[in-house]
Amino acid sequence: MKKLKIGDLEKIREKVAKTRVLREGKARARITVHMGTCGIAAGARDILTTLMSEIEKKKVTDVIVTTSGCAGLCSREPMATVELIDKPPVKYVDLTPEKIKKIFAEHVMKGNIVKEYALAVGSETTH
Ligand code: FES
Repeated sequence: MKKLKIGDLEKIREKVAKTRVLREGKARARITVHMGTCGIAAGARDILTTLMSEIEKKKVTDVIVTTSGCAGLCSREPMATVELIDKPPVKYVDLTPEKIKKIFAEHVMKGNIVKEYALAVGSETTH
């Protein structure tokens, strides 16, 4: 795994902040990538950059991407939470760039939860 440099993280943060400012207010979905110490160690940065490039490539303008700290589940990192307007949040675990691409295409764009990658829907635990 590449070592994370402070500069990289700042660049990501700036990019995320920019997206957030641009899109706040008219969003229909929010994706939160958990960037606690273990999330970053497990590859959360790749998840975030994959997500940002999907959004750019597909010219999506109504999805907010944010980051948060520790989600309390080191062993299941990287993790992300997807919230569509008026739907319960879905937490996805053990992510890879391929998985987040599928989640983006299926859940965020079409509203179909990708059950095989989901840990919990709302407050319910699926396994
Ligand atoms: S740092 Fe790993 S769950 Fe918090």
